[in-house]
Amino acid sequence: MDSRIFLIGFMGSGKSTLGAQLARRIDYQFVDMDLLIEETAEMSVPEIFDEHGEEVFRKWEHDILLELCQSEKIVISTGGGAPCHSGNMDLMNSNGCTIYLKLSPEALLSRLIRSRTERPLIKGKSETELLDFIRSLLEKREKYYMLASSIVDGFNVKTEELVRIVSDS
Ligand code: S3P
Repeated sequence: MDSRIFLIGFMGSGKSTLGAQLARRIDYQFVDMDLLIEETAEMSVPEIFDEHGEEVFRKWEHDILLELCQSEKIVISTGGGAPCHSGNMDLMNSNGCTIYLKLSPEALLSRLIRSRTERPLIKGKSETELLDFIRSLLEKREKYYMLASSIVDGFNVKTEELVRIVSDS
């Protein structure tokens, strides 16, 4: 089994919830990259975007990922944009197994509609604007997400299936 397991996918795809469950099942450590960035920076993700901008956030995200690639027996829930910047997808594929939790724009909308204020990229959008935003950003991001070593139906996936995938990795 790979020593590092990266869960990737759009905001709201369930990376943190499923990642924590998977880690418990296989007795790996679990890390949520956004939380680790927040702890390190002593600021929330929206504060980082507000005060330093997205570019700085992406740099810190890459630095944290580089560090995590040194850890063993770890499940990592990545931020939705992480695979699409700074060569991070190649980095993750070279250092472990990557699992893409794939969901339709409509399914993502139903998950994200309630958490609009916590995420800087979707803050203040109406439901229609949010669906348009998800569709267009997902289209750009899928070329990175689809490079994952495994792709699963993020809407219906159960922890068991993830355990099976990583056991074969
Ligand atoms: C982002 C997703 C967020 C967080 C930041 C940017 C993105 O993580 O990293 O707000 O670019 O999609 P989640 O996918 O955990 O919401």
